[in-house]
Amino acid sequence: MIKKTTIRDLAQAAGVSVTTVSQILNGKGQRFSSETRLHVLKLQKELNYVPDFNARNLILKSSQSIGVLVPNIGNPFFSTFIKGIQTTARELQYIPLIFGANHDEKIESYYLEKMIERATGGLIIASASITTETIDTTLKKNGIPYLLMDQNPIVDGDRVQTNDFDGGKLAAEHLLSLGHQQFAITMPSEPTANLLRRVAGFKQVLASKGLVFEQVVTIVYAPMTKAGGYEATREVLASGATAVFAINDEMAIGLYRGLRQQGILIPTDISVIGYDNIDLDEYVEPMLTTIQQPILEMGSMATRLLVNRIKEPLIAPQVVDLPVELIQRQSTGVPKIN
Ligand code: RIB
Repeated sequence: MIKKTTIRDLAQAAGVSVTTVSQILNGKGQRFSSETRLHVLKLQKELNYVPDFNARNLILKSSQSIGVLVPNIGNPFFSTFIKGIQTTARELQYIPLIFGANHDEKIESYYLEKMIERATGGLIIASASITTETIDTTLKKNGIPYLLMDQNPIVDGDRVQTNDFDGGKLAAEHLLSLGHQQFAITMPSEPTANLLRRVAGFKQVLASKGLVFEQVVTIVYAPMTKAGGYEATREVLASGATAVFAINDEMAIGLYRGLRQQGILIPTDISVIGYDNIDLDEYVEPMLTTIQQPILEMGSMATRLLVNRIKEPLIAPQVVDLPVELIQRQSTGVPKIN
């Protein structure tokens, strides 16, 4: 078995104490001569010494790691969100430990427990299945800083939020401006609070134009995935809608396939608008009109706020609002005159 170089080996080779090595490697060795510092750093390279983070955590009582829980790593929205987290975590010298809970409460509790056991400094939870009980009994009780976002209900404390209500409004205003009067909305049958806010925004705009939501909108329930969008095709077509608001881009892209298979042209026969602005939107044909969420920034901001909280637990609640925006591409147009 290969023997890992220890801090003792390094100290012995350098002819200094373990404390001296530890202070130099942790950037706290100003009181030693530059000759000693360079000598230790040179030997560290030669001996390939990698600090033992478990031991370091014990001494510094800080793991410099944050746990991240998302519902579905495979969804480009969440992989971009994670990218934002990684970039900022690196800048702040933290390591993110990322887990996909797959909408499963048991898996989520399991990961939470493991992250806490490993002394994760704080948590970003974008997955909706966390219960208030877990928050109270596990996180609050253990004094673990956390930030809930996206699919979680709005709670007190640190938050990074986008305005889903406004996003829904933008979608409705855009479709109405093109002349649509009959709509379908594709969404999951057990929608999280953020998705319901999108629908509420959509509804408010219709009401402001004298349209009764229940009369002009058919809700088609299907999983919030590409497969779900595909599955929704039949009902969307049967609804007689001239425009579809897919609650996320993945659903819109699945719907594209279903519509194409039925010989339906977008936007000539039916308009489709999505939500998120994932990078795939510009690579589908026609390019997808959508409501943009600043996904990278959401991840980056969440990390920044969490690290602030880890470093200064007593600061006032930090709330950051990020804008949503209509990105008009080619999948929406005027309704067909029959
Ligand atoms: O694509 C994933 C969707 O679920 C996004 O709209 C995001 O906001 C999340 O809730």
